[in-house]
Amino acid sequence: MAFSFNLGTPVNTALFLYILYSVQRIIFPSTSKPKTVPNEFKAGYSWLPKTHPPTVLFKVYTPKTLEPFNGRDGGRILLAINGTVFDVTAGRNFYGPNGMYGNFAGRDASRGMAKQSFDLEMLTPVDQPLDKLEDLKPDEIENMKGWIDHFSNKYIICGKLVENDAI
Ligand code: HEM
Ligand SMILES: *[C@@H]1O[C@H](CO)[C@@H](O)[C@H](O)[C@H]1NC(C)=O
Repeated sequence: MAFSFNLGTPVNTALFLYILYSVQRIIFPSTSKPKTVPNEFKAGYSWLPKTHPPTVLFKVYTPKTLEPFNGRDGGRILLAINGTVFDVTAGRNFYGPNGMYGNFAGRDASRGMAKQSFDLEMLTPVDQPLDKLEDLKPDEIENMKGWIDHFSNKYIICGKLVENDAI
């Protein structure tokens, strides 16, 4: 036989003892309670999140109060589609200052979403009445609806958008 198992060699003895110990740990796992509640993955098992997740309040926004949430200060990023305000902070790569869709941050993005364009002329100036979207064609409305579905599945709805003089 090319390999023979000899418990007499120190390495084999050590490995054998280690295997015995490991098997023992699996068959009789420790059931003692940890002294402190672990809250880190490294501590083995995460029972408690490190902090409470941030609380998001549903609020009423106007174009003017929505605008500061454009992420340029590194803070939250919101955008509105058809009157629904989404917290898209998690999509900072898309909507942050250098993001491809940064124009939508803090703004009513309805028209751009409908017409599949992030050009600046899709945006209504924040001091003007809300875009009524009345001239949109059915397929553009349908496209906007698709984006509303996408955003509803991915982000948290955190408010609604109303006219500047409505609150
Ligand atoms: C050059 C053309 C374009 C390219 C290459 C492109 C590429 C992409 C890519 C790679 C994603 C990421 C998808 C994901 O990871 O979930 C994305 C998402 C997106 N794109 Fe585009 N896109 C283009 C044009 C447009 C236009 C014209 C609009 C205008 C409305 C648009 C709006 C969006 C939006 C809203 C998202 C979703 C971001 C999110 O989930 O928060 N894209 N695009
Ligand atoms: C947009 O909002 C209006 C008013 O709330 C609603 O009647 C309409 O169905 C919405 N359109 C889409 C595509 O969700």
